[in-house]
Amino acid sequence: MARLDVTETFHNIMFPGHMHTKDSLNYAINFQFQDTDTVIVTYPKSGTTWMQEIITLVLGKGDPTIAQTQPNWARAPWLEQYYCVDVLKASTGPRIITTHLPYHLLAEALQDSKAKVIYVARNLKDVLVSYYHFHKMANFLPDPGTFSDFLNDFLKGAVHYGSWFDHVNGWTSHTKDIHNFLYITYEEMCKDLHVSVQKVSRFLQCNLTEDELMLAQKHCSFNSMKENTMVNYTLIPQEIMDHSKGKFMRKGKVGDWKNTFTEEQSRLVDDVYSSQMTDSSLLFKWECP
Ligand code: A3P
Repeated sequence: MARLDVTETFHNIMFPGHMHTKDSLNYAINFQFQDTDTVIVTYPKSGTTWMQEIITLVLGKGDPTIAQTQPNWARAPWLEQYYCVDVLKASTGPRIITTHLPYHLLAEALQDSKAKVIYVARNLKDVLVSYYHFHKMANFLPDPGTFSDFLNDFLKGAVHYGSWFDHVNGWTSHTKDIHNFLYITYEEMCKDLHVSVQKVSRFLQCNLTEDELMLAQKHCSFNSMKENTMVNYTLIPQEIMDHSKGKFMRKGKVGDWKNTFTEEQSRLVDDVYSSQMTDSSLLFKWECP
């Protein structure tokens, strides 16, 4: 299996080589979606794992058994990662598929599909801080250097999975081209998890009773997920994720960027943001970045 080299790119985007091969990436962009598929789309650190947990709990009507016994990557595999093909082959019932790919790489595969697509977006400043800390613990990502170095690379799109701006612009400007599309933000989920779980359940046409909703909400809270080894990534061996350098379930907060950014860095991000966003009207239900 030819893993991607550290410096190798696919359609000009870097992907972590321990999980991606040219074949796995080609498999993803040529994927045959089924109308019963639910697809979680995110830029990294935007609430991917959280949405995987919410959907698992919604489909299980609040029963945490699957969430507590199956790792997230086994129940909602990343389409572009090499093991996805085997997980999907072995799966029975409706599939939950996760992806970090930008819209332009999946546009053709999704054309005419009635798969349900859920896009989770998060304030880029919080994404930046979360991604920076993740780089420090993830041995499959390059050393991020100082926060200032990382910020500059991030704004240029010179990080794994590519540009945050291309990702968000690409997916949100094609919502009308996707039959079933739900846009939700990390901030909305933090502000009112109950309403957010309900929104997801309605979108999935899986209406839950009030008791089931309460159960689902309880098991996808930050405190509950932090302790759940099936989603907190502590099952990943030390040589891949160095748990002495940080926690995957780190803070789970809105606005934590303020503890890291200088005023100058914040202004720089605001300027790049203003110049690169094509349509922010849909996007920002969070405090302005
Ligand atoms: P922080 O590093 O800011 O804490 P992803 O799953 O896309 O990689 O995103 C990881 C981020 O989502 C981390 O952010 C993590 O703590 C946060 N997260 C995961 N589950 C959460 C939950 N239930 N509530 C709030 N934040 C959560």
